[in-house]
Amino acid sequence: MKRTCLRISLSLAVFTASLIPVPLLAQEARSPVAPRRDVVEAVVREAYEKFKNDTSGKNADYIPYLAQVNSKLFGVALVTTDDQVLTVGDVNYSFSIQSISKVFTLALAMEELGPDNVFHRIGSEPTGRPFNSVPAVVDIPTHTGNPLVNAGAIATTSLISGKDEDERWNKILAFYGKVVGDKLSLIEDVYKSEAATNAGNKALAMLLAKYDRIYADPFESVDIYTKQCSVGVNALQLARMGATLANNGVNPTTGQQVIKREDVPYILSTMTMAGLYDGSGGWAWHVGLPAKSGVGGGIVAIAPGKGAIAVFAPPLDEAGNSVKAQEVIEYVARKLNYNLFSPSSVGLK
Ligand code: DON
Repeated sequence: MKRTCLRISLSLAVFTASLIPVPLLAQEARSPVAPRRDVVEAVVREAYEKFKNDTSGKNADYIPYLAQVNSKLFGVALVTTDDQVLTVGDVNYSFSIQSISKVFTLALAMEELGPDNVFHRIGSEPTGRPFNSVPAVVDIPTHTGNPLVNAGAIATTSLISGKDEDERWNKILAFYGKVVGDKLSLIEDVYKSEAATNAGNKALAMLLAKYDRIYADPFESVDIYTKQCSVGVNALQLARMGATLANNGVNPTTGQQVIKREDVPYILSTMTMAGLYDGSGGWAWHVGLPAKSGVGGGIVAIAPGKGAIAVFAPPLDEAGNSVKAQEVIEYVARKLNYNLFSPSSVGLK
């Protein structure tokens, strides 16, 4: 008798659930302070239209491949923690992730060594200098600075364990894939172009060796770092990577916990202080969101608990940050009250 009752109530529950419209179910999972989808959609479209004709900035050219990428490409993608997706423009074009990779190698290093160990070996101080600064390595007491400038990032890559270079590189690539929830691969031509012109990064790695602040063979570490920078992502994939951070390390699409929940605040605080290099202070002032840029033209910004926005547009400003990506994210963040330092971002009127 009991069993029959249970079966009836179970089938009733299944029946009732199937009657609930999907958006309602989705809404249960979403952050109570996330703005409504129609509002977000309107704002993202407005931003795209407002900035699409801005031609200021210039493609990076110190990596020859990047100079010849079509500078008109422009894509915006937003993914929420309950896996709603909004896209406008060139969101399927695969560009090199460049420095944005540094965020996810940091996550993997913390996964392997724990945050205290990583903090001790790399640090998290803004340098106030360009991302590839040699003087910063000499002047800053930790030498590495933080995991998001080239020196600190190469040192972070050197922390990843493996029996040889291939194993370490494949581990990094596979980890990025889990964060996206998709298979990623190297853009060979970017890798070749960058590997042929990365004397500056090799110099940084050797300088770190002088201070005992690199933890594997310096040139091997630069090579893996160069590969990680040459991984191809599109704007939508990048937004998914960001949404995983916004969602406490759980990929909103696969539901897999891919970054430890307790590591996320360390990652986001580092992004806030150093994600846009010597443009980070201005970014925190104007936008108030952890973000990371890459010289390939991508920027991803995280609204914790709500979602992430990724923009791809190759022309960069003096600091190496995409001009249009900064404009779009600033516009969207203001309109949607995303600024972390504003109490209205958590619903306070
Ligand atoms: O090592 C480099 O210079 C490039 N692979 C990455 C630099 C980068 O993306 C800085 N970004 N704004």
